[in-house]
Amino acid sequence: MQIFTTTQDLRTFICQFKSQNPQKTIGLVPTMGALHKGHLSLIEASLTVCDCTIVSIFVNPTQFGENEDFNQYPRKKEADLHICAKAGVEIVFMPEVSQMYPLDSTLQTTFNAPAAMANVLEGKTRQGHFNGVLQVVLKLFNLVRPDKAFFGRKDAQQLLIIQKMVQDLFLPLEIVPCPIVRNEEGLALSSRNAYLSPSGITQALRISASLNAVTKAIMRGIKDSYELKRIALEVLEGLEVEYLVIVNHELQNIEQIQKNSTLILVVVRIEGVRLLDNLWF
Ligand code: PAF
Repeated sequence: MQIFTTTQDLRTFICQFKSQNPQKTIGLVPTMGALHKGHLSLIEASLTVCDCTIVSIFVNPTQFGENEDFNQYPRKKEADLHICAKAGVEIVFMPEVSQMYPLDSTLQTTFNAPAAMANVLEGKTRQGHFNGVLQVVLKLFNLVRPDKAFFGRKDAQQLLIIQKMVQDLFLPLEIVPCPIVRNEEGLALSSRNAYLSPSGITQALRISASLNAVTKAIMRGIKDSYELKRIALEVLEGLEVEYLVIVNHELQNIEQIQKNSTLILVVVRIEGVRLLDNLWF
């Protein structure tokens, strides 16, 4: 496994790889490090379908708000490199901030996410967050020029906003959405689960149970969003539901669900821990 820390070394590698292997494909897995099983599933997806897998590990300052502590974000360089090497990753790109943003002025976003998608749900309390995500993702796409880039469905809003950018700007790559990784009991994996007590974990299982209840209702032929929400909220009764929405891929609320274009997003707070889950229909 090769590790690059400068954009120049990465660019040199990409140019050589593409000229020597014109038929071979490059897969990019963008991450902010502190890798867990969720990231590993993205890495494995890329290793399965691409000839060369590049994992980027970069804690991106432009997606952190003023009240969010960029400096406190976990950095686990050695463990991350170990995970990548063991998985069989070819290249890890782990630049310093000065490599990705060489001038202070480049910390300003030049391309913004559509407000209707970026300022709702997760973006409501994180102004500018998705602009920062798009800024770094676009930089990575331009540096790596991947054939495919892998993102988890768990961060559904991020995935949809990235897909929209790729579509709107005619970017020449495929975004590969990867399934949510769950534990045996159905709880969506998150580093935040570690903050839950055993009883908190038991309560958290009701989140995926609520989505399962919705799936069953859809299979029974129910299409009405109001009714589907009622069914989910019944399972979540007594829990602090921050939001539960049924939206299309532009994140607009819809009254009737439609196959392949509907998303049910839920955020629940348990013991002060914010837990996200979702269902793609
Ligand atoms: O999902 C993440 O870890 C980040 O938002 C991403 C896509 C790597 C951009 O910094």
